[in-house]
Order: sequence, then C-alpha cells, then structure tokens
Amino acid sequence: MSTLSLVGLCGSLRRASTNRLLMHEAARRFGEDAPFAEVDIRFPLFDEDLEAGQGIPDAVQHAADMIAGADAVIVASPEYNKGITGALKNAFDWLSRTGSNPWRDKPVAIVSAAAGAAGGARSQAMTRLCLTAFRPHLLTGPEVLVGQTAQQWDADGRLTNEFGAKLLSELMADLRRAAEARA
Ligand SMILES: Cc1cc2nc3c(=O)[nH]c(=O)nc-3n(C[C@H](O)[C@H](O)[C@H](O)COP(=O)(O)O)c2cc1C
Repeated sequence: MSTLSLVGLCGSLRRASTNRLLMHEAARRFGEDAPFAEVDIRFPLFDEDLEAGQGIPDAVQHAADMIAGADAVIVASPEYNKGITGALKNAFDWLSRTGSNPWRDKPVAIVSAAAGAAGGARSQAMTRLCLTAFRPHLLTGPEVLVGQTAQQWDADGRLTNEFGAKLLSELMADLRRAAEARA
C-alpha cells in the first residue's frame, strides 16, 4: 500500500488557534507516516462579481487541488456565535465554484474545539450540514468536541484531555480505514 496523504482545514485564522492544535493532534494520530499539509483558507470574501471579473483565485484553486489530491481530510471547526466561522463557510463557498468537486467521496473527519463546555457541538453539526452538499464520505463519529479549549493543551501543543485524545484516536483510525479502502 502506498503512503496515504492527509490535508486539513482550520476554521480559525488566528496564529494561536486551538483548533489548529487539534488538527495537528489529529494528523499525528492518523499516522506519522502520512504526510500532512494545512490548506490555507485565507481567501477573499466570496463575491460573484469578483468571480465573474477575475475568475477563481489561485489560492482557491490551489486549495481545491490539495483536497482533490489528498486521501483524507480533517476539518477543524471552531464555534463562533453558535455556528461555523465565516472563514470556513467562505472557503466552502469558494471551493464549490472551482468546476470540479474536490470533496466527492473524500473521507472527511470533523473535529471541534471551543471555549464552551459543549466543545463546539453546534458548529460541528453545522459544518456537517454545509459539507453534505458536496457528498463527501463524512465520518459520523465518534464526535470529537474539546470544551474549555484554552485549558486542554500543554506547552508543546499536545492535547491533555485523555478522553478527548482517546476519541480522536478512534476517529482517526476510522478515517484511515476509509482512506485505505478508497486508495
Ligand atoms: C466571534 C466569536 C464568537 C464565539 N462564539 C462562541 C460560541 O458560540 N460558543 C463557544 O463555545 N465559543 C465561542 N467563542 C469562543 C471560541 O470557542 C474560542 O475563542 C476558541 O478558542 C476559538 O477557536 P480557536 O482557539 O481555534 O481560535 C467565540 C469566539 C469568538 C471570537
């Protein structure tokens, strides 16, 4: 079996994002042998006039190519005001305009970290709903929801919550199985 490749999208743009830490923790648990790359979603705000005038931005096409070329995808979805972040929804909207659907049948796992005790459960559900339009192979669980996220990381950026870590390992084992079945 050839090496599996993995990419991740993080819905928080800030440098110290705990969702990005979670995304990297997930990638390690998917398997250190699998090369991992973050998909940069710093796209302009979607605007049909911009699209009509300039076409698909290079950054969007590059992101679509990364997703299309990966064996599996992790989406780390923070919760902003009980929902998905604008950056992530904007990325989904741009990616839907690239002509080909990079998500189709792609094994995808969603993870969330948030300040609230529910760990971003609402944004995770909303992310699932948004992705459904693209017909990926969305894993249904276990749900990885890291609550009170500011307190869950050590100085090396590793997840200290043992229960969350166990669920994350299970989710990544399932993602890997789905990727292997498709490779
Ligand atoms: C605009 C905004 C809205 C937020 N709304 C929620 C919310 O609805 N639920 C929640 O649990 N946390 C909420 N938070 C707190 C985030 O969960 C917290 O900032 C988290 O660390 C963001 O993810 P990050 O660490 O990946 O940036 C909000 C934060 C911001 C900036």
